[in-house]
Amino acid sequence: MLVLKDVNKTYDGKKMAVKELNLKVNAGEIFGFIGPNGAGKTTTIKMITGLLPPTSGRILLNGIDLATLPVEAKRNFTYVPDHPEIFTGLKGIEYLNFLADMYEVPGRERRNRIEKYTRLFAIDTALGDLIQAYSHGMKQKLLICGALLPQAPLFILDEPLVGLDPLATKHLKDIMREHCAAGGTVFFSSHLLAVVDEICDRIGLINQGELIVCDRVERIKNGSAHSLEDIFLELTKDGEG
Ligand SMILES: Nc1ncnc2c1ncn2[C@@H]1O[C@H](COP(=O)(O)OP(=O)(O)OP(=O)(O)O)[C@@H](O)[C@H]1O
Ligand SMILES: [Mg+2]
Repeated sequence: MLVLKDVNKTYDGKKMAVKELNLKVNAGEIFGFIGPNGAGKTTTIKMITGLLPPTSGRILLNGIDLATLPVEAKRNFTYVPDHPEIFTGLKGIEYLNFLADMYEVPGRERRNRIEKYTRLFAIDTALGDLIQAYSHGMKQKLLICGALLPQAPLFILDEPLVGLDPLATKHLKDIMREHCAAGGTVFFSSHLLAVVDEICDRIGLINQGELIVCDRVERIKNGSAHSLEDIFLELTKDGEG
């Protein structure tokens, strides 16, 4: 579903934020992208979503090259960014309808899904309000609802659990699992290693721009009693101070 080939990113000619990244995420997988602050997770996600051009390398979405056929490639995913400060001048319902228009979600499915997801995440009664009046968690929930509307094959989320209450966190984890059980794909970054451990099929660990581990969770643990947190701290300790 998602392939990155020799992807590099340098900001303003400075040090490389992402180095020679090769990655393949298959349909039906929940892939967790972890790494310390500044490791290159958001940079990678922004390249996958077409928000940032790679300095070099190729990105394929469902076999379609993002650089040569960007619109066709982008139809394969929806995206929840790390900071929900977007379209604050719109009402919640206007934002959802805008997204549904972009992805050409027909009327009946649109109404049903808006009702289903906004009720689930308990923001249905706020849809007539301007997004600027939403709390951080409400904005996050609105973005998640918007990303669920088109039911695109690939669901990309950058630290989606930040600011979500426990019930919303549970619903989002269930949705991720259901999406993959139905053949969809989830790619998300998180610092919540317990959640990553719980729901991911595979994990990629990026440190200082380099993918240093990419494997199934049980293989990363390799039969040891160490938690994912212990393994993370051990593998990334060179980057300290
Ligand atoms: N707009 C930018 N201009 C210059 N450098 C940037 C920019 N955005 C990110 N960087 C640099 O790229 C590197 C990777 O940053 P990135 O935001 O991808 O990290 P991250 O893994 O998402 O971190 P976090 O866990 O804190 O969200 C860092 O060294 C950062 O300083
Ligand atoms: Mg980030």
